[in-house]
Amino acid sequence: MRRHLLMVLAGVVVASLVGIAQSGEISSEADYDAAMKEVGATFGALRSDMEARDGEAVLAGTAKLADLFEQVQGFWASHDVPAAAAIATEAAEAARAITSAVESQAFQEIAPARDALGGTCQSCHNEYREPVDGGGFRVKPGVL
Ligand code: HEC
Repeated sequence: MRRHLLMVLAGVVVASLVGIAQSGEISSEADYDAAMKEVGATFGALRSDMEARDGEAVLAGTAKLADLFEQVQGFWASHDVPAAAAIATEAAEAARAITSAVESQAFQEIAPARDALGGTCQSCHNEYREPVDGGGFRVKPGVL
């Protein structure tokens, strides 16, 4: 029974990830949660790829983050929360700034852009995210 439930849950996560990939749109809080998990994993990998000076992997990561944050921006805009949408735009721009810095070999610009990107996580989370009892996070009630 428990195992079955886990498989169903895994199916939901996969379906929502596929949903995001196919539609390019975050249309529910479950999709949003899946997108943030992907953002978290991608940003973690990006930091290690930067440490390792793996340019190809860094470019793949920043392209993915720019794309995800455009979708995040769309989610907040569709819920009419312009301040959160603006932070998401900043995040997408910071990801693109890393891309340009790597492409033009302006290496001194990489760390500031990475810090700007990390700063957007914090400012949005402080304002709009809260932990859920028993683990995980959600959008603060009353925001959407
Ligand atoms: C525009 C707002 C916004 C920005 C920018 C943002 N987040 Fe989030 N994030 C949220 C909200 C709201 C939640 C809670 C919603 C949820 O988890 O369902 C969240 C949840 C998360 C979670 C928890 C997912 C879970 O439930 O396990 C992770 C991990 C995460 N964000 C990583 C990041 C990282 C890393 C960045 C920056 C690179 C970032 N986020 C930028 C709004 C944002």
